[in-house]
Amino acid sequence: MSEQKLPMLPPSVELETKAVLKQLAKANRALAELKGYADTIPNKHILINAVLINEAKDSSAIENIITTHDELYRAMSDASSASSAAKDVASYRTALWQGYELVNTRGMLTVNMIIEIQGIIERNRAGIRKLPGTVLRNEGTGETVYTPPAGEAGIKELLGNLEKYINEDYSDIDPLIKLAVIHYQFESIHPFYDGNGRTGRIINVLYLVLKELLDSPILYLSSYIIRNKSEYYRLLQKVRTHEDWEEWIIYILAGIEETAVETFRLAKRINSEVEAMSVEIKERLPKIYSKEMIDLLFYEFYTKIVYIQNGLSVTRKTAAGYLSSLEKEGFLVSEKIGKERIFQNKRLYDLVRHT
Ligand SMILES: Nc1ncnc2c1ncn2[C@@H]1O[C@H](COP(=O)(O)OP(=O)(O)OP(=O)(O)O)[C@@H](O)[C@H]1O
Ligand SMILES: [Mg+2]
Repeated sequence: MSEQKLPMLPPSVELETKAVLKQLAKANRALAELKGYADTIPNKHILINAVLINEAKDSSAIENIITTHDELYRAMSDASSASSAAKDVASYRTALWQGYELVNTRGMLTVNMIIEIQGIIERNRAGIRKLPGTVLRNEGTGETVYTPPAGEAGIKELLGNLEKYINEDYSDIDPLIKLAVIHYQFESIHPFYDGNGRTGRIINVLYLVLKELLDSPILYLSSYIIRNKSEYYRLLQKVRTHEDWEEWIIYILAGIEETAVETFRLAKRINSEVEAMSVEIKERLPKIYSKEMIDLLFYEFYTKIVYIQNGLSVTRKTAAGYLSSLEKEGFLVSEKIGKERIFQNKRLYDLVRHT
């Protein structure tokens, strides 16, 4: 099958059609609402963490890496005992954090960062494709639907062009429309042997942070893509075959709107759980309660004696006593994993697991 060369960005057709602008307004509104709320909540780390863990699971599930929250929770607290799927999901989460740190500190999203992110996801240093033979197949029929560009030099040139498009705003086109273009282009360049989908989904959120549409990495399209998977592949392909950007862009914008609304809801639920638990701990264990203690309990899904010891500057014995009282009152559930006792914040965990 002869393939046309993948065109450089920007696309040569008009992207801001009437239908696109209509969906764009809705997406921007939902996103602004989420950003506004996320700015005001006291424990941002909790929200980021909760959303991130679900994203790591969902995004990996698209690649058929299926794990449960329980497995993942174990992998996070004791990596040595983790299954390979749980390790993959944990790596995705690490890649996401690392990408966020990089974009946040450097104010750019470069090809080198993208290579670094993919390396963390895949836990290897293979880098950009050098050997030919990578093709994209229809999941059902196995037929080849697209052969991405081959040859390292050509791939690097396309990536350089993409990097410019990401970082330089030479036109006034809306960043959310650009996000859809970037995602298509990145997946079509398909620069790596594997992990292109997952890397591309991380680029999406990093781009939102880069353009200051979000302060924290809390908006992900993976669950939306899972729900609308065949559309996702079909529309990617239609940009290629029919230069049909409109449908693709609307698909992505609708995903941004939908997931922003969902994340907003989750953020509110987490926030009220933190407040409810604070009030209860204050009432039932007034000697233990402090704001710092609540922060520590909600920093992760689990805590350890040493975290409380260091976080509150108390002795190990005191820290252990606090945690055991909290467990007796039903706020935490402990379990020995590896050599250590891990205390799970059951309510936070259940809340996130069921979203
Ligand atoms: N016709 C297509 N044109 C462009 N990109 C496509 C097409 N079909 C699929 N893709 C992209 O390729 C990705 C899969 O590539 P790859 O296997 O390298 O990534 P992955 O992260 O391992 O997998 P997955 O995305 O399934 O989790 C898809 O997620 C999608 O973004
Ligand atoms: Mg793959």
